[in-house]
Amino acid sequence: MPMDRASVAQAAQQEIAACSDKAGLDALRVKYLGRKGLVQEMMQAIPTVSVEERRGFGAGVNQLKNELEELLSRRGAELEAQGDLAGAFVDITLPGRQPLCGHLHPITQVKLEICRVFEHLGFKVFEGPEVETEFHNFESLNIPLDHPSRDAFDTFYLRTSHVPRPTSENAEKRLLRSHTSPSQVRALKACPPPMAVVVPGRVYRPDAVDASHSFMFHQVEGIAVDKDIRFSDLKGLLIAFAHEMFGEGTRLRFRPSFFPFTEPSAEVDVSCFLCGAKGCSVCKKSGWLEILGCGMVHPHVFKSAGLDPKEWRGFAFGMGVERIAMLKFGIDDIRLFFENDMRFLEQF
Ligand code: PHE
Repeated sequence: MPMDRASVAQAAQQEIAACSDKAGLDALRVKYLGRKGLVQEMMQAIPTVSVEERRGFGAGVNQLKNELEELLSRRGAELEAQGDLAGAFVDITLPGRQPLCGHLHPITQVKLEICRVFEHLGFKVFEGPEVETEFHNFESLNIPLDHPSRDAFDTFYLRTSHVPRPTSENAEKRLLRSHTSPSQVRALKACPPPMAVVVPGRVYRPDAVDASHSFMFHQVEGIAVDKDIRFSDLKGLLIAFAHEMFGEGTRLRFRPSFFPFTEPSAEVDVSCFLCGAKGCSVCKKSGWLEILGCGMVHPHVFKSAGLDPKEWRGFAFGMGVERIAMLKFGIDDIRLFFENDMRFLEQF
């Protein structure tokens, strides 16, 4: 006579409930559901059961098999859950573990700080594209094809297959912008004057990487245009900026310079705030640190933006964020900013 389903079920239930480890449970699975297990044995006995009882017996064995599977997997899950804590002493009074908290990259911090100072002075933040047209990067800024200053910038062109199919409007070549100045014309078109914006962003140049050069760095551009803006407004603005950024006692020095898109143009130095302008290794004993280029917006730039140069006047300036960050934090190698070494980044 084949085994009785009810007594097998009862025995299995007891054994499974009493089992307290995974190995024991595996053994029970083999005992009941294995190839030579009890359930299999009952299946093989089906032909020996009388024809009238066979159907009911078969269905019963199947049901038993399902029940045992269910019991085994439920007990397995219970053991697993207990296993996590088994033998562990949990001191619920211990303070939780601090999650690892990141922070903004030092370049982002300085970039935001520069923008914040100009926002306090009435400027809005504007952003231009890193992939620029030749027109915006050069021609709009009065840098013609054959201008020598273009050599230092002529760089990182994009293969035309990577940019939208040329149409009559965008037939010109594209490149990674070499300065943020192309955003001057974009800003003038997007924000009709009177306007004042700063444009933070990445720029790219074909410079070999060393302690003070990188093929990619950040600039903050500024442009302000109104009916009656003078060079003295530019000076006053930059003095206010330097006081906020480097301290009240900071002095400024304007040196005549040349940029094709400003006239007159100047380069600006701040008195060395590291040595109090006495002369140190960072200011190379001169007491001055160069921080930006600037000037009055060239008539050509107004024309590029579709504005009448007789009607409008403005100034523009551009500064390197890495340079200012290096001065502020006393960092002597620009590469440190881009190597993503946590020991360096954690210090800011
Ligand atoms: N674009 C110039 C540079 O990258 C800086 C600059 C900006 C100069 C605006 C004048 C006016 O060197």
